[in-house]
Amino acid sequence: MATVDVAVSMHADRLGATPTLAGVAPGRVNLIGEHTDYNDGFVFPMAIPFGTAVAVSPRPDRRVVGHSARFGTTEFDLDNEPATTDGWGRYLHGMARMLADHGVEVGGFDATVVSDIPGSSLSSSAALEMASGMAITALGGTTISPVQLARLGQQVENEIIGVPVGIMDQLISAAGVRGSATLIDCRSLELRQAALPDSVRIVVLDTGTRRGLVDSEYALRRAACERVAAALGVEALRDASLAQVAEIAVDPIDRRRARHVVSENERTLAAVDAVDAGDVVSLGGLMDESHESLHLDFEVTGPAPHAAVELARTLEGCLGARMTGAGFAGAAIALVETPAAEAFVETMTERFEAPVDQPSTEPPAFHVVWPVQGAHVVQPSA
Ligand code: GLA
Repeated sequence: MATVDVAVSMHADRLGATPTLAGVAPGRVNLIGEHTDYNDGFVFPMAIPFGTAVAVSPRPDRRVVGHSARFGTTEFDLDNEPATTDGWGRYLHGMARMLADHGVEVGGFDATVVSDIPGSSLSSSAALEMASGMAITALGGTTISPVQLARLGQQVENEIIGVPVGIMDQLISAAGVRGSATLIDCRSLELRQAALPDSVRIVVLDTGTRRGLVDSEYALRRAACERVAAALGVEALRDASLAQVAEIAVDPIDRRRARHVVSENERTLAAVDAVDAGDVVSLGGLMDESHESLHLDFEVTGPAPHAAVELARTLEGCLGARMTGAGFAGAAIALVETPAAEAFVETMTERFEAPVDQPSTEPPAFHVVWPVQGAHVVQPSA
Protein backbone atom coordinates (compact mmCIF):
# COMPACT_ATOMS: atom_id res chain seq x y z
CA MET A 1 0.00 0.00 0.00
CA ALA A 2 1.30 3.49 -0.83
CA THR A 3 2.49 5.55 2.15
CA VAL A 4 -0.30 8.07 1.64
CA ASP A 5 -2.95 5.35 1.77
CA VAL A 6 -1.46 4.04 5.01
CA ALA A 7 -1.52 7.56 6.51
CA VAL A 8 -5.11 8.13 5.40
CA SER A 9 -6.38 4.86 6.80
CA MET A 10 -4.44 5.22 10.08
CA HIS A 11 -5.86 8.72 10.47
CA ALA A 12 -9.40 7.46 9.84
CA ASP A 13 -8.92 4.61 12.34
CA ARG A 14 -7.57 6.92 15.03
CA LEU A 15 -10.08 9.73 14.66
CA GLY A 16 -13.13 8.04 13.18
CA ALA A 17 -13.25 10.22 10.06
CA THR A 18 -11.46 10.42 6.71
CA PRO A 19 -8.78 13.17 6.78
CA THR A 20 -9.50 16.32 4.78
CA LEU A 21 -6.34 15.87 2.72
CA ALA A 22 -2.78 14.64 2.83
CA GLY A 23 0.54 16.21 1.92
CA VAL A 24 3.06 13.84 0.37
CA ALA A 25 6.78 14.48 -0.20
CA PRO A 26 9.68 12.29 -1.33
CA GLY A 27 13.19 11.75 0.01
CA ARG A 28 16.12 12.32 -2.35
CA VAL A 29 19.50 11.21 -3.51
CA ASN A 30 22.02 13.66 -4.87
CA LEU A 31 23.72 12.42 -8.05
CA ILE A 32 26.55 14.93 -7.70
CA GLY A 33 27.19 18.42 -6.29
CA GLU A 34 27.85 17.74 -2.60
CA HIS A 35 28.43 20.47 -0.01
CA THR A 36 28.06 23.02 -2.77
CA ASP A 37 24.54 24.32 -2.01
CA TYR A 38 25.55 26.53 0.93
CA ASN A 39 28.36 27.89 -1.25
CA ASP A 40 25.83 29.26 -3.78
CA GLY A 41 26.89 26.46 -6.13
CA PHE A 42 25.27 23.70 -8.20
CA VAL A 43 23.61 20.45 -7.13
CA PHE A 44 22.07 17.66 -9.22
CA PRO A 45 19.64 15.66 -7.06
CA MET A 46 16.52 13.63 -7.79
CA ALA A 47 13.49 12.73 -5.68
CA ILE A 48 13.18 8.99 -4.91
CA PRO A 49 10.19 6.67 -4.58
CA PHE A 50 10.34 6.67 -0.77
CA GLY A 51 8.53 9.43 1.04
CA THR A 52 6.51 10.85 3.87
CA ALA A 53 2.77 11.40 3.98
CA VAL A 54 0.98 13.72 6.41
CA ALA A 55 -2.80 13.23 6.60
CA VAL A 56 -4.60 16.14 8.28
CA SER A 57 -8.00 17.34 9.42
CA PRO A 58 -8.85 20.69 11.03
CA ARG A 59 -9.61 21.05 14.77
CA PRO A 60 -11.89 23.67 16.27
CA ASP A 61 -9.13 24.92 18.61
CA ARG A 62 -5.53 26.17 18.22
CA ARG A 63 -3.91 22.84 19.06
CA VAL A 64 -1.89 20.57 16.82
CA VAL A 65 -1.93 16.88 17.68
CA GLY A 66 0.40 14.83 15.53
CA HIS A 67 0.82 11.08 15.55
CA SER A 68 3.74 9.36 13.84
CA ALA A 69 3.76 5.63 13.25
CA ARG A 70 7.48 5.60 14.01
CA PHE A 71 8.02 8.38 16.54
CA GLY A 72 4.83 8.56 18.61
CA THR A 73 2.65 11.54 19.48
CA THR A 74 3.45 15.25 19.62
CA GLU A 75 1.08 17.93 20.84
CA PHE A 76 1.41 21.70 21.00
CA ASP A 77 -0.46 24.96 20.98
CA LEU A 78 0.00 27.16 17.92
CA ASP A 79 0.19 30.30 20.04
CA ASN A 80 3.05 29.10 22.22
CA GLU A 81 6.17 31.01 21.33
CA PRO A 82 8.89 29.94 21.07
CA ALA A 83 8.57 26.26 20.10
CA THR A 84 7.85 24.19 23.18
CA THR A 85 7.84 20.80 21.51
CA ASP A 86 10.76 18.45 21.14
CA GLY A 87 11.66 15.60 18.77
CA TRP A 88 9.87 15.37 15.44
CA GLY A 89 7.15 17.80 16.60
CA ARG A 90 9.65 20.63 16.16
CA TYR A 91 9.45 20.16 12.38
CA LEU A 92 5.66 20.28 12.43
CA HIS A 93 5.61 23.25 14.78
CA GLY A 94 8.33 24.98 12.75
CA MET A 95 6.52 24.60 9.43
CA ALA A 96 3.23 25.80 10.97
CA ARG A 97 4.97 28.87 12.36
CA MET A 98 6.91 29.71 9.20
CA LEU A 99 3.78 29.33 7.06
CA ALA A 100 1.76 31.54 9.41
CA ASP A 101 4.51 34.19 9.23
CA HIS A 102 4.36 33.82 5.45
CA GLY A 103 0.65 34.69 5.46
CA VAL A 104 -0.97 31.26 5.35
CA GLU A 105 -4.03 30.92 7.57
CA VAL A 106 -2.93 28.27 10.06
CA GLY A 107 -5.46 26.79 12.48
CA GLY A 108 -5.33 23.76 14.79
CA PHE A 109 -5.24 20.33 13.17
CA ASP A 110 -4.83 16.61 13.76
CA ALA A 111 -2.05 14.98 11.74
CA THR A 112 -1.02 11.39 11.04
CA VAL A 113 2.48 10.95 9.70
CA VAL A 114 3.78 7.86 7.90
CA SER A 115 7.17 7.52 6.20
CA ASP A 116 8.94 4.73 4.36
CA ILE A 117 12.23 6.60 3.80
CA PRO A 118 14.92 4.14 4.82
CA GLY A 119 17.98 4.79 6.97
CA SER A 120 19.63 8.17 7.24
CA SER A 121 20.95 10.67 4.66
CA LEU A 122 17.99 10.32 2.28
CA SER A 123 16.39 13.55 3.57
CA SER A 124 13.61 12.27 5.78
CA SER A 125 13.46 15.56 7.69
CA ALA A 126 13.13 17.61 4.49
CA ALA A 127 10.36 15.25 3.34
CA LEU A 128 8.54 15.73 6.66
CA GLU A 129 8.87 19.51 6.30
CA MET A 130 7.65 19.56 2.69
CA ALA A 131 4.78 17.09 3.27
CA SER A 132 3.52 18.86 6.38
CA GLY A 133 4.02 22.25 4.69
CA MET A 134 1.88 21.18 1.71
CA ALA A 135 -0.80 19.82 4.04
CA ILE A 136 -0.92 22.92 6.28
CA THR A 137 -0.98 25.25 3.26
CA ALA A 138 -3.81 23.33 1.60
CA LEU A 139 -5.80 23.22 4.87
CA GLY A 140 -5.42 27.01 4.95
CA GLY A 141 -7.12 27.11 1.54
CA THR A 142 -4.13 28.33 -0.43
CA THR A 143 -1.09 27.20 -2.43
CA ILE A 144 2.63 27.94 -2.28
CA SER A 145 5.43 27.64 -4.85
CA PRO A 146 7.99 24.85 -4.42
CA VAL A 147 10.82 27.38 -4.04
CA GLN A 148 8.95 29.30 -1.34
CA LEU A 149 8.02 26.13 0.54
CA ALA A 150 11.62 24.90 0.34
CA ARG A 151 12.88 28.22 1.69
CA LEU A 152 10.57 27.93 4.70
CA GLY A 153 11.74 24.35 5.33
CA GLN A 154 15.35 25.49 5.22
CA GLN A 155 14.47 28.26 7.68
CA VAL A 156 13.02 25.65 10.05
CA GLU A 157 16.32 23.73 9.89
CA ASN A 158 18.46 26.86 10.29
CA GLU A 159 16.46 28.73 12.92
CA ILE A 160 14.55 26.09 14.87
CA ILE A 161 16.51 22.84 14.56
CA GLY A 162 19.78 24.83 14.50
CA VAL A 163 21.58 23.14 11.58
CA PRO A 164 23.06 25.47 8.92
CA VAL A 165 21.93 23.35 5.94
CA GLY A 166 21.60 24.60 2.38
CA ILE A 167 18.41 24.40 0.33
CA MET A 168 19.02 21.27 -1.76
CA ASP A 169 17.06 18.67 0.21
CA GLN A 170 13.94 20.78 0.66
CA LEU A 171 13.95 22.07 -2.90
CA ILE A 172 14.29 18.71 -4.60
CA SER A 173 11.66 17.21 -2.28
CA ALA A 174 9.33 20.08 -3.24
CA ALA A 175 10.14 20.35 -6.95
CA GLY A 176 11.29 16.90 -8.16
CA VAL A 177 10.11 15.81 -11.60
CA ARG A 178 9.33 12.23 -12.60
CA GLY A 179 12.04 10.69 -14.77
CA SER A 180 14.52 13.54 -14.36
CA ALA A 181 17.31 14.67 -12.10
CA THR A 182 17.23 18.43 -11.45
CA LEU A 183 20.15 20.82 -11.78
CA ILE A 184 19.66 23.49 -9.13
CA ASP A 185 21.57 26.75 -9.23
CA CYS A 186 21.61 27.41 -5.50
CA ARG A 187 22.22 31.13 -6.03
CA SER A 188 19.39 31.96 -8.44
CA LEU A 189 17.28 28.92 -7.42
CA GLU A 190 16.75 28.26 -11.11
CA LEU A 191 15.93 24.62 -11.87
CA ARG A 192 16.72 22.62 -14.98
CA GLN A 193 15.55 19.06 -15.61
CA ALA A 194 17.73 16.41 -17.22
CA ALA A 195 15.99 13.14 -18.14
CA LEU A 196 17.96 10.09 -16.98
CA PRO A 197 18.73 7.61 -19.77
CA ASP A 198 16.97 4.28 -19.49
CA SER A 199 20.27 2.46 -20.00
CA VAL A 200 21.23 3.05 -16.35
CA ARG A 201 19.74 2.73 -12.90
CA ILE A 202 20.54 4.52 -9.67
CA VAL A 203 20.99 2.14 -6.75
CA VAL A 204 20.79 3.38 -3.16
CA LEU A 205 23.39 1.69 -0.95
CA ASP A 206 21.95 2.14 2.53
CA THR A 207 24.67 1.00 4.92
CA GLY A 208 22.34 0.97 7.93
CA THR A 209 24.68 3.30 9.82
CA ARG A 210 24.04 6.59 11.58
CA ARG A 211 26.51 8.93 13.13
CA GLY A 212 26.07 11.47 15.87
CA LEU A 213 27.95 14.77 15.64
CA VAL A 214 27.07 15.07 11.95
CA ASP A 215 25.52 18.46 12.62
CA SER A 216 28.60 19.89 14.30
CA GLU A 217 30.94 18.49 11.62
CA TYR A 218 28.62 19.95 8.97
CA ALA A 219 28.79 23.37 10.60
CA LEU A 220 32.61 23.15 10.74
CA ARG A 221 32.77 22.39 7.01
CA ARG A 222 30.50 25.29 6.22
CA ALA A 223 32.57 27.66 8.37
CA ALA A 224 35.79 26.57 6.60
CA CYS A 225 34.21 27.36 3.21
CA GLU A 226 33.10 30.77 4.44
CA ARG A 227 36.60 31.58 5.75
CA VAL A 228 38.16 30.90 2.36
CA ALA A 229 35.48 32.91 0.53
CA ALA A 230 36.11 35.82 2.92
CA ALA A 231 39.90 35.57 2.42
CA LEU A 232 39.33 35.69 -1.35
CA GLY A 233 36.97 38.63 -1.03
CA VAL A 234 34.16 36.81 -2.87
CA GLU A 235 30.55 36.41 -1.82
CA ALA A 236 30.73 32.61 -1.88
CA LEU A 237 33.02 29.84 -3.18
CA ARG A 238 30.76 29.72 -6.24
CA ASP A 239 32.73 32.78 -7.37
CA ALA A 240 36.20 31.29 -6.84
CA SER A 241 38.48 29.49 -9.31
CA LEU A 242 40.82 26.58 -8.55
CA ALA A 243 43.81 28.82 -9.27
CA GLN A 244 42.62 31.38 -6.70
CA VAL A 245 42.10 28.68 -4.09
CA ALA A 246 45.60 27.30 -4.77
CA GLU A 247 47.23 30.70 -4.27
CA ILE A 248 45.41 32.34 -1.37
CA ALA A 249 47.10 32.29 2.04
CA VAL A 250 44.76 30.15 4.16
CA ASP A 251 45.02 27.20 6.51
CA PRO A 252 45.95 24.09 4.45
CA ILE A 253 42.87 22.19 5.63
CA ASP A 254 40.60 25.09 4.66
CA ARG A 255 42.28 25.12 1.25
CA ARG A 256 41.41 21.45 0.69
CA ARG A 257 37.81 22.05 1.75
CA ALA A 258 37.53 24.91 -0.75
CA ARG A 259 39.24 22.89 -3.48
CA HIS A 260 36.54 20.27 -3.10
CA VAL A 261 33.74 22.81 -3.46
CA VAL A 262 35.19 24.60 -6.48
CA SER A 263 36.05 21.38 -8.31
CA GLU A 264 32.67 19.85 -7.38
CA ASN A 265 30.83 22.73 -9.03
CA GLU A 266 32.74 22.04 -12.26
CA ARG A 267 32.02 18.31 -12.04
CA THR A 268 28.34 18.95 -11.44
CA LEU A 269 27.91 21.06 -14.57
CA ALA A 270 29.90 18.46 -16.54
CA ALA A 271 27.64 15.71 -15.17
CA VAL A 272 24.52 17.49 -16.42
CA ASP A 273 26.10 17.78 -19.88
CA ALA A 274 26.94 14.07 -19.74
CA VAL A 275 23.33 13.18 -18.90
CA ASP A 276 22.03 15.43 -21.66
CA ALA A 277 24.39 13.69 -24.11
CA GLY A 278 23.41 10.23 -22.82
CA ASP A 279 27.08 9.71 -21.90
CA VAL A 280 26.65 7.50 -18.85
CA VAL A 281 30.31 6.45 -18.76
CA SER A 282 31.41 10.07 -18.22
CA LEU A 283 28.66 10.53 -15.63
CA GLY A 284 29.97 7.51 -13.70
CA GLY A 285 33.53 8.81 -13.88
CA LEU A 286 32.47 12.20 -12.51
CA MET A 287 30.62 10.50 -9.65
CA ASP A 288 33.79 8.56 -8.79
CA GLU A 289 35.86 11.75 -8.85
CA SER A 290 33.31 13.49 -6.65
CA HIS A 291 33.61 10.74 -4.07
CA GLU A 292 37.42 10.91 -4.07
CA SER A 293 37.27 14.65 -3.54
CA LEU A 294 34.78 14.24 -0.67
CA HIS A 295 37.01 11.52 0.78
CA LEU A 296 40.41 13.21 0.55
CA ASP A 297 39.70 16.96 0.49
CA PHE A 298 36.39 17.40 2.29
CA GLU A 299 36.79 14.34 4.55
CA VAL A 300 33.13 13.51 5.02
CA THR A 301 32.72 10.09 3.40
CA GLY A 302 32.47 8.03 6.61
CA PRO A 303 33.85 4.46 6.85
CA ALA A 304 30.64 2.59 5.95
CA PRO A 305 29.54 4.62 2.89
CA HIS A 306 33.16 4.56 1.70
CA ALA A 307 33.30 0.75 2.02
CA ALA A 308 30.00 0.43 0.14
CA VAL A 309 31.34 2.64 -2.68
CA GLU A 310 34.56 0.63 -2.91
CA LEU A 311 32.71 -2.69 -3.09
CA ALA A 312 30.15 -1.35 -5.60
CA ARG A 313 32.89 -0.27 -7.99
CA THR A 314 34.25 -3.81 -8.26
CA LEU A 315 30.90 -5.23 -9.41
CA GLU A 316 29.72 -5.95 -12.93
CA GLY A 317 27.92 -3.08 -14.63
CA CYS A 318 28.78 -0.40 -12.06
CA LEU A 319 29.79 2.80 -13.87
CA GLY A 320 30.46 4.92 -10.78
CA ALA A 321 29.61 5.27 -7.08
CA ARG A 322 29.72 7.93 -4.40
CA MET A 323 28.40 8.95 -1.01
CA THR A 324 25.26 11.08 -1.11
CA GLY A 325 24.01 13.83 1.22
CA ALA A 326 25.95 15.31 4.12
CA GLY A 327 28.13 12.22 4.54
CA PHE A 328 29.78 10.69 7.65
CA ALA A 329 27.34 7.72 7.63
CA GLY A 330 24.18 6.48 5.95
CA ALA A 331 23.72 6.00 2.24
CA ALA A 332 25.82 6.01 -0.91
CA ILE A 333 24.64 5.58 -4.49
CA ALA A 334 25.84 3.66 -7.52
CA LEU A 335 25.23 4.19 -11.23
CA VAL A 336 24.62 0.74 -12.72
CA GLU A 337 23.88 -0.47 -16.25
CA THR A 338 20.22 -1.45 -16.34
CA PRO A 339 20.67 -5.11 -17.33
CA ALA A 340 23.13 -5.58 -14.44
CA ALA A 341 21.08 -3.80 -11.75
CA GLU A 342 19.29 -6.80 -10.28
CA ALA A 343 22.44 -8.92 -9.95
CA PHE A 344 24.28 -5.87 -8.56
CA VAL A 345 21.71 -5.55 -5.75
CA GLU A 346 21.93 -9.28 -4.99
CA THR A 347 25.72 -9.24 -4.79
CA MET A 348 25.81 -6.10 -2.64
CA THR A 349 23.29 -7.74 -0.31
CA GLU A 350 25.41 -10.88 -0.05
CA ARG A 351 28.77 -9.22 0.31
CA PHE A 352 28.41 -5.83 2.00
CA GLU A 353 29.29 -5.59 5.62
CA ALA A 354 29.95 -2.28 7.35
CA PRO A 355 33.52 -1.93 8.68
CA VAL A 356 34.17 -2.59 12.39
CA ASP A 357 34.82 1.09 13.09
CA GLN A 358 31.31 1.97 11.90
CA PRO A 359 29.00 -1.03 12.34
CA SER A 360 25.44 -1.06 11.01
CA THR A 361 22.68 -0.48 13.55
CA GLU A 362 20.02 -1.51 11.04
CA PRO A 363 20.39 -4.12 8.29
CA PRO A 364 22.05 -2.67 5.17
CA ALA A 365 19.65 -2.49 2.21
CA PHE A 366 20.01 -1.83 -1.50
CA HIS A 367 17.28 -0.27 -3.62
CA VAL A 368 16.97 0.49 -7.32
CA VAL A 369 15.34 3.93 -7.50
CA TRP A 370 14.02 6.23 -10.21
CA PRO A 371 13.12 9.94 -10.11
CA VAL A 372 9.62 10.73 -8.88
CA GLN A 373 7.41 13.80 -8.61
CA GLY A 374 8.00 16.24 -5.75
CA ALA A 375 5.62 17.27 -2.95
CA HIS A 376 1.90 17.39 -3.68
CA VAL A 377 -1.51 17.25 -2.06
CA VAL A 378 -3.71 14.16 -2.21
CA GLN A 379 -7.48 14.34 -1.64
CA PRO A 380 -8.53 11.05 -0.04
CA SER A 381 -11.65 9.41 -1.42
CA ALA A 382 -14.24 9.19 1.36
C1 GLA B 1 22.73 17.87 3.71
C2 GLA B 1 22.11 19.28 3.67
C3 GLA B 1 22.13 19.85 2.25
C4 GLA B 1 23.52 19.71 1.61
C5 GLA B 1 24.07 18.31 1.79
C6 GLA B 1 25.50 18.18 1.32
O1 GLA B 1 21.92 16.97 3.01
O2 GLA B 1 20.79 19.26 4.14
O3 GLA B 1 21.72 21.20 2.28
O4 GLA B 1 24.40 20.68 2.10
O5 GLA B 1 24.03 17.89 3.15
O6 GLA B 1 25.56 18.38 -0.06
